[in-house]
Amino acid sequence: MPTDPRDAMRAWFLGPRAENAELLERLVVESLRDHVFWRRNYHPEDGFAIREMDKRQQGYEETVATLTQELMGLLAELKRDVPFFSGRYKGHMIGEQTIASQIGYFATMLYNPNNIAIEISPVTTRLELEVAGQLARMIGYDPSRSWGHLTSGGTIANFEALWLARGVRYLAVAAAGAAGELGLDLPVRLPGGTTAPIAELALWELLNVTNQDTLDLWERLWQSAPRPEVQRALTNHSLAAIGYQEYSRRLALDYGDPLPAGVALVAATAHYSWEKIVRALGIGSNQLVHLPLDQFYRMDPDALWERVSALARRRQPILALVSVCGTTEESAVDRLDQVLQVRARAERELGATFHVHSDACYGGYAAAVTRRADGTRRTAAEIRESVGTDWPSEDWVRAVEALSQADSVTVDPHKMGYVPYAAGAILVRDGRTRHLVATDPPYLSPAEGPAPDTERFLGRYILEGSKPGAAAAAVWLSHKVIPLDERGYGYLIERTVAGAHRFHSALAGADLAPFRAVMLPVPDINIVCYLLCHPSLTTLRAVNEFNERVYARMSLTRSDGRPEYIITRTRLRSPAYDGAIDPILAALAVGSVDEWKASGPEGLVVLRSTIMDPFLAAPPPAPDHVRGFLGALRRACTEVLGAGGAAAGLLS
Ligand SMILES: Cc1ncc(COP(=O)(O)O)c(C=O)c1O
Repeated sequence: MPTDPRDAMRAWFLGPRAENAELLERLVVESLRDHVFWRRNYHPEDGFAIREMDKRQQGYEETVATLTQELMGLLAELKRDVPFFSGRYKGHMIGEQTIASQIGYFATMLYNPNNIAIEISPVTTRLELEVAGQLARMIGYDPSRSWGHLTSGGTIANFEALWLARGVRYLAVAAAGAAGELGLDLPVRLPGGTTAPIAELALWELLNVTNQDTLDLWERLWQSAPRPEVQRALTNHSLAAIGYQEYSRRLALDYGDPLPAGVALVAATAHYSWEKIVRALGIGSNQLVHLPLDQFYRMDPDALWERVSALARRRQPILALVSVCGTTEESAVDRLDQVLQVRARAERELGATFHVHSDACYGGYAAAVTRRADGTRRTAAEIRESVGTDWPSEDWVRAVEALSQADSVTVDPHKMGYVPYAAGAILVRDGRTRHLVATDPPYLSPAEGPAPDTERFLGRYILEGSKPGAAAAAVWLSHKVIPLDERGYGYLIERTVAGAHRFHSALAGADLAPFRAVMLPVPDINIVCYLLCHPSLTTLRAVNEFNERVYARMSLTRSDGRPEYIITRTRLRSPAYDGAIDPILAALAVGSVDEWKASGPEGLVVLRSTIMDPFLAAPPPAPDHVRGFLGALRRACTEVLGAGGAAAGLLS
C-alpha cells in the first residue's frame, strides 16, 4: 500500500516539541559512529597521533575543559535564537528543517567534501547534479538537456541567471565578429522566422536572436573551424573578455550604431538582490526596470507588452526579463504563461526577444504540488480536492506549469525545501548555456585520461568556488525521503497553503473590536499580509506607527525578547505597489492614494506572516496557533494604544 503522506509527514520533522528526538538522536549517533569506523579502518597500520597517555596531560585536559565550557556557553546563547520550529513563529520565509536534511548535512559534514570539483567530492558532486536533475524534472525541464547546480542561496543563483542570460544575449554579436575574423559565412534564424547570413545582420538583429537559435549558431561556429581558432576569435569579440566600457565603444564603431544600454526587466515585487546583481554585473541600476503589478501583486502582462514595445521602438535591447514565482513579501505567483506569450508576440511582431528567467527562489517547490507520483501533472481540480479549498485556480496551475518554458529558474531548497542553509539552486533549460561562463584554472582541471569528467568539475561553470558537499547531501536525502510530488513536498506545501488560507480567513473574520484587520488578498502560496487599524487612527502616518509598534511587540525586537507570537513586516511603497494599493486603502478608509504616493519611503506598513508550519491547517490536539495568534494580536494592539500611544502622538 502506498505511504499515506498524512502519516509520513509526522516523521519528516523533529517536531515543535522535539517529538521525534529519539529518531534524530539515533541517526546522529549512527552517522557519527559510522564515520569513526571509517577513520579507524582507513590504513589501520598508520598508528596513532593522539595516544591515551596524551589525554592525561594538563594541556589536553585544560583544552577539553575549555571546549566543554565554551560549548555550554554557545548552547546557552543559542536559546536566544529564533524558534523557527514552533507554530508561534510566523515571520520570515523559513520554517522547520526536515530530519533527512539535518542528518544528511551532519553525516556529510564529518567528511567535509568540497563540491568545487569531483576530485575533492567524489560522492557529493554526483549528489548535487542528481538534485539538480530532480528539481529540473519537478519544474518540467528535460534533465538530459537542462543543467543546474546548487548555490549558497537565491542571491547567487539569481546572479548566475543574469550572468548567463547576458552571455547568451551578446553571444551572436561575438559570433558575428568571430565569423568575420575566420572568414566564415553562417546563416542565422531571426525571431520572425527568416534566415540571413550573419555578416548582413545589424547590431539590433544580432541582439535579438532567440536563445535556442543563438546556441545553435554558436555550436555551428565551433564545428566550422579548428577549436583553438574559434576559441581565440570568440574571445577577441566577447563581452566577458573585453569588458563593458571598451565593448560599447567598439560596437558603436563597428556597427556605426550606438544602441541604448541593455535593460533587465523585473517585476515590481522583485527581491532586492536584483539591484545588487545589476550593479555587480556592471549593467547598472539605472538599467533595472521595474514593471507594474496588478491587484494580486502579480506582474501585469499588458504593462509588460507596452514596455517591451516601447523598448523595441527605441531599439533598446532587453537582456532578460525576471518574473517571480512566490514573491518575497506576498508569495504572489506571476502569470508566467502570459509573460511567455508576450515574448512570443514580441518575436512575431517586433522582431525582439529576451531571456525569460523565473525567480522561483521561494515558490519553486510549489511545482511539486502539480506532480502525481508517476511524474505526470495533476489537474487544478484534483489538487483542490486534496487541499479542501478553492485553491489553486486553473491560472495558478498554468503559471506554475510554465516554469518548464522559462530559460532559467532559481529555486531555493533552503526556503520551501525545508533544508538548512546554505542551499539555493539555479536551473537552465538549455545546458549548453553553462559553457558561456566557463573558466579553467589549471590546478583544478580534471586529469587527462580516457574519459575526463569535465561535466563534474562544477567550479568551471559557477560563480562560487569552494562549496559544501554537505549542503548537497542534505537536499539529496530530503528529496529521497520526501518526494517532489503529491506524496512529499507537494503534500507538505499544500498543507501550508491550507494553513495560510485558514489563517487569512480567521483574521479577516475575527472580532478584534475596537480594532480591525485589513487583509491583503488571499495569497497565491502561503504568505499572509495584513494591517491593523482603529477608529482613532485617521492618518496614514498614525496607522503606520500603530502597525510598526504592533510589529515591535510581536517580534524579537521586543525588549524582553519574549513575544507570544513572532511576525514580520514590510512597507508597500509607490511606485512599485501603485497597481495594488487601491483596494487596501479603500478597505482601510484612511488617507488617499495621493497621500500614500507622496509619503515616499514611508509607504504603508503591512504585517506579514509566512505560514510554513504544515500543522496549522487543521487544529491539532495541542494549542491551536490560529486562535492563539488572534488573542496575542489583540493583546498587542491593546498594549500599543494603552501603552501611551496617544501620549506619544500616535493618535491624530
Ligand atoms: C523571491 C526571492 N528571490 C531571491 C531571494 C534571495 O535569496 P537568498 O536570501 O537565499 O540569497 C529571496 C529571499 O528572500 C526571495 O524571496
